[in-house]
Parts: sequence; C-alpha cells; structure tokens
Amino acid sequence: MATINENYLKLKAGYLFPEIARRVNAFAQSNPNAPIIKLGIGDVSEPLPEACLTAMIKAVEEMGGRASFKGYGPEQGYTWLREKIAAQDFQARGCDIDASEIFISDGSKCDTGNILDIFGKNNTIAVTDPVYPVYVDTNVMAGHTGVSNDDGKYEGLVYIPINAENNFTAAIPTQKVDLIYLCFPNNPTGAVATKEHLQAWVDYAKANGSIIFFDAAYEAFITDPSLPHSIYEIPGAKDCAIEFRSFSKNAGFTGTRCALTVVPKSLTAKAADGSDVELWKLWNRRQSTKFNGVSYVVQRGAEAVYSEAGKAQIKALISFYLENAKIIREKLTGAGLQVYGGVNAPYVWVKTPNGLSSWDFFDKLLQTCNVVGTPGSGFGAAGEGYFRISAFNSRENLEEAMKRITEKFKV
Ligand code: MLT
Repeated sequence: MATINENYLKLKAGYLFPEIARRVNAFAQSNPNAPIIKLGIGDVSEPLPEACLTAMIKAVEEMGGRASFKGYGPEQGYTWLREKIAAQDFQARGCDIDASEIFISDGSKCDTGNILDIFGKNNTIAVTDPVYPVYVDTNVMAGHTGVSNDDGKYEGLVYIPINAENNFTAAIPTQKVDLIYLCFPNNPTGAVATKEHLQAWVDYAKANGSIIFFDAAYEAFITDPSLPHSIYEIPGAKDCAIEFRSFSKNAGFTGTRCALTVVPKSLTAKAADGSDVELWKLWNRRQSTKFNGVSYVVQRGAEAVYSEAGKAQIKALISFYLENAKIIREKLTGAGLQVYGGVNAPYVWVKTPNGLSSWDFFDKLLQTCNVVGTPGSGFGAAGEGYFRISAFNSRENLEEAMKRITEKFKV
C-alpha cells in the first residue's frame, strides 16, 4: 500500500495566495458585476521590457534554424548570462562573486524550497514573523517541524518577530540557530535592512556556524543609496550566506520565469563525521540531477536586462511601481491609516483600522470596495492586525482602489 508524506498533513489549509484566489473567485461568482481590483499577490501588471521581448523573439527564431537551434543547456545556466550577472549585480557593488557561483533557475520561490535538499534534517531553523510563507511551508513539508499551534506557529521553528515596536528589524537570536531566512527589502512588510544590521547577522552566523538564506528578490526597489542590495556587500557573508534573486519583480518575469541563486564556493556545512563539505558541490549535484535549466529563450530575455536599453527600461518600471507605492502610502495616511514600508519596496504594510482582524479587513475591503489585498496574518501570527497592499497594478486601477478605500475607511 502506498503511503504519503505525513508532513503535508501538518500544513494549515491551502497556500496563502491560492486561498485568497479561492475567496475572491467565490465573491466574483456571486457578484459577477463587481469591478474587482487586485492588490493582493505581488504579481506584476506591466508588460515585459522591450529589450527582453526583442531578445526573446530573436532567440525563438534561432530555435527555428538548424544551425542556431539549442537543445539542453547547462543545468547551471548559460555562461554568458551568469557572467553578466556576476559583473553587474555583484562585482560592480564590490562583491567578490564569480559567475561559476551563480545558478540560474526558474524562480526564487522554487529555490528557497529546493535548497533544503542539501541540508540535514536536524538543523534549528529561524524565520521572521511575519514571513514569506514558502520558507515555513517547505520546512513543514520536509519534516523539519512539529505540528502548528492555535496561532499557526509550528513547533521546532524559531520565530523572530518584526513589527512596528522593533522598527521591523529582525533581532539577533539569543539562542543558537543553524539556518536563518532573511528577506530584505522585506516581503511582506516592505522594511529594509541596513549594512550594520546585516553585519550583525553575518557576525552571528559566522560565530555559530549558521547559514543565512538571503532572499533579495526585491533589491531592485532600493532607492536609498546607503542600503545594501546584496548580502555579499557585507564582509564575511561569502562564508555564511546563500542569496536568492529573481527577474520576476524587476523585469516582470513572473510569468516568464527566471531567477538565480548564489552559492559561494567558500561556503561549507558539517557532515555527520564532523568534516566540512562545500555546499556549492552539493547544490551543483542537486541541480544537475533534478533540473535541466531554464529555457534558452528565457535566458536570452534575462540577459537583455543587463543591456543599456534593458537597464533604462527596468529603471522606468521600478519607478512606476514605486510611484504606485507612494500613492498608496499618501492616500492611506491621508485617510488616517497607519502605514509602513513602500519606500524601498513594492509592498505597503497597513495597520488594520478599528482593531479589525486581518481576515475581517480582507472581507470588508473585498465586499465594500471590491479591492483585494493580503491579510497580514497569512504571513504569520505577528502579521495579525496588519494588511499588505501591493503596488503592482496599473496606475488607473491603483488610483481607483485608493479612492474606494479612502472613501470607506476614513479613520
Ligand atoms: C507575494 O505576493 O508575496 C509574491 O508574489 C509571492 C511570490 O513572489 O511568490
């Protein structure tokens, strides 16, 4: 008789975003004329940059010619893309990252889950609270946790609260943890990490033999020049951090799929016999076995992000979404709501008005304004009483949504 992975039974309900989609679809079915505006999942609305599009069209044509056709590419990604990333995203910022340490993939979401393949079962794992739910759920699936309590917190995970009281700064744990997930600019709160803050984390990780999983999917939204874009800008990080990046939010590749993971060759973790094992070798082995690389066409599209035209177009896209975030902040603040984030990030983190719970506010907003956001409690217990509004939508939709919200929720 076949049996299941029992860990899946520990998971709470559905994954957050499909659960929201389910509720929105149910509402839309009973209210077919409701003009719903979605500011929930951080999915981009603007079309691909012209430079990426042109590169991909050319690549598709190459695939149609016998001489230029490409079959399987390298599992790690094409060298011409990895070299551009190494030079422009890392070396240009003083980070000593080599192209061979960059692995191209189809998404940071997948990689932040897949990375657990190369780590042991008995690591103590720390996450912030609130947190991008993928980090928690993939650890539950892998059997790294116990069951969840009434607050939705899983036994065995160390939760580090980030909230208004601590200025959304993830405090260094007083206990020893082995794997730490950090995401800055932060999803969902839109908070940022300074160099000093990340240095404290790197120092902690090095002192404790821990590995930091640094999710930099939103780094392109950093406008403050004092803030680090990569954890490798911090001395010592190459010995204790893996970084995840994505083309989803800067170049609008949510539907195109391309991302990258940096595993420095200097990074090691312990084997059972106490020896140090290079994580690069394990990840390379994992990717070569379980992954056949991102399509040639998509990698050519990603390469165009680094062209002069691509860089200018991406700058314009980011500015557009950041202006949306500014409008959200200004309108909601004007209506008396307390807001955070949205300055170096595409997410605005809103305190729910009148003491409403996150899901109650979600329902009210959907029913009275036909606007969809994301309930803060969906990101963890400490997100209760907050609500995330995404800046990813057209200006017209965004302004209309703000008009509806501010009319109904003046406090
Ligand atoms: C989000 O809304 O948090 C993101 O879109 C999720 C993701 O990038 O997978």
